[in-house]
Amino acid sequence: MVRVDHTTRRRSAVHESFLKHGGFRYLKLALLLTAVCLGIYAGSSASPVRNGGSAAGYFLGILATVLVVWLAFLGIRKRAITGGRWSLKAWTSAHVYLGVAVLAISLLHSGFQFGLNLHTLTIVLLGLTVLSGVIGAVAYSVIPRRMSDNRGQLSGEQMIEAVQAVDAPLRQAARRLSEADALLVSSAIEDTEIVRGVFGRILAPDRNCPTARALAMMRRQSVRAGPLDGIEDKDEDDSERAVRERVTLLLERRSAMLGRARRHARYRALLEVWLYAHTPLTFGLLGALVGHVVSVFYMW
Ligand code: HEM
Ligand code: HEM
Repeated sequence: MVRVDHTTRRRSAVHESFLKHGGFRYLKLALLLTAVCLGIYAGSSASPVRNGGSAAGYFLGILATVLVVWLAFLGIRKRAITGGRWSLKAWTSAHVYLGVAVLAISLLHSGFQFGLNLHTLTIVLLGLTVLSGVIGAVAYSVIPRRMSDNRGQLSGEQMIEAVQAVDAPLRQAARRLSEADALLVSSAIEDTEIVRGVFGRILAPDRNCPTARALAMMRRQSVRAGPLDGIEDKDEDDSERAVRERVTLLLERRSAMLGRARRHARYRALLEVWLYAHTPLTFGLLGALVGHVVSVFYMW
């Protein structure tokens, strides 16, 4: 028998994904709402055409607009902290499902009449907002787990400290290298960037990394030095080789820590970047929607 104590149950509720929140309560609500709207659309008169100008069309258009305004309100709600039934998780769960439903409701409102006009632009912007939202929801449900696998028990700050912890011994060991190699190592310490701009973090987190360059150079030199047999001044060569090995080892450690910190920064950027489309699209949609409503009343 598996015993589930209250702490475990409470903890699993805390870790429950926003998609599953409340036993898919908002998925069910969104499906019900869409089915009711489909019923209204199917039951409305088709003469001359079913469109936004019919009674059912007005109802569906107004309902879609109320939902869009509420969806856009998440930007403000996100920044206020409350818990319980109306927690941010409940809001986000309702947001994603009703966000998809609003597209279906708007399509029914339009009666599937499209053309090169502001009305169609409104629904295109709505479609793009929904699409960017779906991408965001996928990112939110996949990335946090990968992030915690990557970072283990460390925070972002501790990862950077772990990179810096190698600097002092590396500097010390590099003093005994040739001037050119020591310069390469000091450039690895001084010039390596961990956090770049959002797109840099996603597309090329390791590009032109001075630590990777120094490590590659040290490895190339060890290969070129070859085996020890047959070397005349063996003692001197041994100690030089030991220094190189230590520097290489420290650079490897620094590189591994950097990789981990960069992966962390990359995941964080992936969690942010889609909002660069979702938020401006929301504003574009609200503007087009105002234009749509004003224009249909003006033409009426
Ligand atoms: C998210 C909200 C909305 C979207 C995406 C939307 C989109 C559309 C689209 C694509 C059409 C078809 C245009 C055509 O026939 O070429 C349409 C028609 C129409 N919409 Fe909306 N609409 C929305 C909200 C509203 C609201 C709130 C109203 C009025 C209060 C409204 C009133 C109308 C009217 C009267 C028509 C018919 C226009 C005509 O036949 O020329 N819409 N809408
Ligand atoms: C008309 C449709 C939609 C509008 C107007 C809208 C608007 C917004 C706004 C204004 C935010 C807050 C952004 C911020 O300030 O950080 C937001 C966040 C979000 N939206 Fe949408 N959205 C829509 C549809 C969707 C859909 C269909 C999905 C997913 C299927 C979605 C997923 C999300 C997610 C995951 C967030 C982030 C929540 C958080 O950071 O806690 N959205 N949306």
